[in-house]
Amino acid sequence: MLTVLSVFACLFSFGTLVRDKIYYYFATFQWRNEILKYGRAQLSPKGVPKHNNKQQAPQIGEGNQYCKHRLLSSFDKLIAVVKTYPEVYLFIGYGSRAQYADVDEVLRGLLPKFQDIRYRCGEKRWLGIYGGDKANVTAPDLGWLIKRLQDEHGCDLLAVQAEGEPDDHTTFHFIPERQTKPNSGETLYGGMHDGKLVGVSRIYLADELVKPDSGGLRLLTGLIVAGGGRIAMEELQYADEVGLPWTYVPSRAGDIQVYGSTYGPVHNWVTDRLSNGQQPVIVSAR
Ligand SMILES: *[C@@H]1O[C@H](CO)[C@@H](O)[C@H](O)[C@H]1NC(C)=O
Repeated sequence: MLTVLSVFACLFSFGTLVRDKIYYYFATFQWRNEILKYGRAQLSPKGVPKHNNKQQAPQIGEGNQYCKHRLLSSFDKLIAVVKTYPEVYLFIGYGSRAQYADVDEVLRGLLPKFQDIRYRCGEKRWLGIYGGDKANVTAPDLGWLIKRLQDEHGCDLLAVQAEGEPDDHTTFHFIPERQTKPNSGETLYGGMHDGKLVGVSRIYLADELVKPDSGGLRLLTGLIVAGGGRIAMEELQYADEVGLPWTYVPSRAGDIQVYGSTYGPVHNWVTDRLSNGQQPVIVSAR
């Protein structure tokens, strides 16, 4: 009996010794890992938006430096990003053909709207979604207008683009699978085709963004329209049909030859819409 006990005692102390040794051995690794972890945490989280961890929108002034060039790999990721912002607006307007006659004039027209948004968002940045038009000061289209918003009105940007390289100032990008016309193979950029949203419109006007939840809230707070051609008009028509609140600012085209009018096709649609039927909903505080 005594031998059995002493054998156990011996095994026990040997076991403890072994365990301690093992523990000591791995502790050094653990300690080194801590250093690694700590070291890594000290590095600037490039490409990783700060607010992704906090699950809330970045503050004014901190958004741009942390959120550059973030390519979103799926629609679910896009939705997750959208959910981190207190207010989210889709912007449509003139493309590179018609451009704007005067971007400052358009921004002045929208100023009360931006002031309201910033008042409601407080210190938080808000999000502007657009079709990824390249910002070019000498050829100012929606891409330039939206860059001015980012620079001057506390907004981060999400570009949903049908093709091409993402612009370098945009906060987030999403490039969905390319859609083409069945017969010609031409890219479908957006708007309606055979009664369905296509191209980028099918993404940024998706049900997940425009349909209200059970509490009556939409992920997309509203649509802001600054002029535009056929695609913009079809998008606005769709938004109006599903009851998404929209704001329109009359915007002079840079090249009035393109649509044969100063204010373009969207203006004619809006003028008609406001003279017939129910008034569109106005965005109000959430
Ligand atoms: C910007 O627009 C001008 C005028 O149309 C054009 O010459 C230039 O190539 C554009 N720049 C870029 C980077 O696209």
